[in-house]
Amino acid sequence: MDSTFRDDRRSKIHGEYLEELSEFSLQDIRTLLEEEQIAKKFLGVIGKGKEANVYWIKDYSNRDIAVKLFRLHTTTHGLQSLHSKAKMSDTAMLDVVEGLCHREYLNLHHMYDAGVRVPKPREQLEFMYTMDFLGTKRGPDPLLLEVDLVKEGHEPIDVLDDIFEQMHLMFNEAEMVHGDFSEHNLVWYKNEAWIIDVLQSQRYHPRYHTGDRIRKRDALPIMTKDVKNINNHFIKKYRIGYDYKEVMANMVEDEVDDWNPDQAMGEDYDLENWVNMAKKNAYE
Ligand SMILES: Nc1ncnc2c1ncn2[C@@H]1O[C@H](COP(=O)(O)OP(=O)(O)OP(=O)(O)O)[C@@H](O)[C@H]1O
Ligand SMILES: [Mg+2]
Repeated sequence: MDSTFRDDRRSKIHGEYLEELSEFSLQDIRTLLEEEQIAKKFLGVIGKGKEANVYWIKDYSNRDIAVKLFRLHTTTHGLQSLHSKAKMSDTAMLDVVEGLCHREYLNLHHMYDAGVRVPKPREQLEFMYTMDFLGTKRGPDPLLLEVDLVKEGHEPIDVLDDIFEQMHLMFNEAEMVHGDFSEHNLVWYKNEAWIIDVLQSQRYHPRYHTGDRIRKRDALPIMTKDVKNINNHFIKKYRIGYDYKEVMANMVEDEVDDWNPDQAMGEDYDLENWVNMAKKNAYE
């Protein structure tokens, strides 16, 4: 099949990867962002994570913007082995990466729309999306991990309370769980913790497992892990924190245990598994 203009452009940026699975060339990125009229000015590389790189640009409205660009050789999702096993075409690989990008972009949108403190999502273009930049003229602001709240004149417990409030919003308004919540995925911007990195986040449905949502019951262990993570960070670093079971009790507003498998409308469910799940206290 002839490659389309879109494929050509995608291969141009991913070209080196397809051959060597090595790094992007910075010049390619700059050219792409400028050609696509995403960036009026390229300001720098912010971070290189497991599956994506994040860049700092100035857009045509003179706004500072962060661009998250998904790489091809992501290992967390087993793409590389998938590639060799399934002999996926390069175009198919790019579609998968674009799917990941779209997933994170939508997750960010759901959170933003529910009022959760995340950078405002701007636009998605294939395997990259843009969002508001969390930083100043001097550069991107630090992760919570890199900040000493006490030295900066803040009460750690107030910050932790506020973070739990944001998680409460995420759980009850956005009906989502983050899935990788920690001091590594919170940016300390304008004296507040901003949530980032939402690729692995999931939406839940109060009762059913649907095509794109997990059951609320199944979201609870994920939420518990997230709560424990950040609570432990504060305990270790500032010697303050809560009993995570109490935090979880406040987090979950309504009953989850009222779910009855007989009410499942034609969905596939494994009764034995469900009973085991029910026995296992989600807060353990
Ligand atoms: N909107 C933003 N404004 C400023 N900096 C940002 C923004 N989004 C991300 N960053 C920075 O870029 C880094 C990587 O972002 P993110 O965590 O979303 O990517 P990732 O590929 O999942 O990274 P990792 O594998 O390290 O978790 C972050 O640690 C943060 O420092
Ligand atoms: Mg991260």
